[in-house]
Amino acid sequence: MEWGKTILSSLEWGKNISNREEKERVADIISSMVKEGEIIGVGSGSTAYLALLKIAGRVENEQLHIRAIPTSQEIRMACARLGIPVTSLWEHKPDWTFDGADEIDTEHNMIKGRGGAMFKEKLLISSSPRTYIIADPSKIVTKLGSRFPIPIEIFPEALTYVEEVLRAYNPKEIKLRMAEGKDGPVITENGNLILDAWFDNIPNNLEESIKSITGVIECGLFIHYNVQIIS
Ligand code: 5RP
Repeated sequence: MEWGKTILSSLEWGKNISNREEKERVADIISSMVKEGEIIGVGSGSTAYLALLKIAGRVENEQLHIRAIPTSQEIRMACARLGIPVTSLWEHKPDWTFDGADEIDTEHNMIKGRGGAMFKEKLLISSSPRTYIIADPSKIVTKLGSRFPIPIEIFPEALTYVEEVLRAYNPKEIKLRMAEGKDGPVITENGNLILDAWFDNIPNNLEESIKSITGVIECGLFIHYNVQIIS
């Protein structure tokens, strides 16, 4: 039995992807940008996954040698299944990164983190000289926060304290993210909890304010990051 050729290769991700045609279109654009020898930061979510699939096709057909820096275990496993070697931020600075988003406003500010991977995603985006955000048109909004809450990853024991401080910023609602079909909370890959906070208004300094609360690891609000949108 060859390692990685059994359960891993039989995993079928992406069967129920919404807006698939639109996501495939932007995924194609990303795949066409890959060059031999590059180190590429790979975001999480279904759009990023579709782009990775297409990149894997090019890697195989054109015998490209690239390395990926994954932003989640799910994407790391996908890389293993697709035969794309991975590296890390300890060893390499990415040449560029691609990722998806949940909401993007007209100034290219974003809400990300439905998959709960926003800490590593923000780290990759911050470490990359270039980042491309691939988004089907449903992600473009006139006002940030109109469809999604801001996800906030917090150290578990800081839950009560962070919630108390967050209330000072007038959120409409704050919820602990629960695991689907279970009674317990979602635990991130870093062993933390996620608070989903809905705001009527998201001022530009809200990201900074949330991040300054002791116990907050990261939040899914991205204000004025160096990103190019492919939509
Ligand atoms: C995960 C993310 C994703 O990029 C975001 O949720 C978009 O996902 P999808 O491409 O499945 O719509 O931020 O943490």
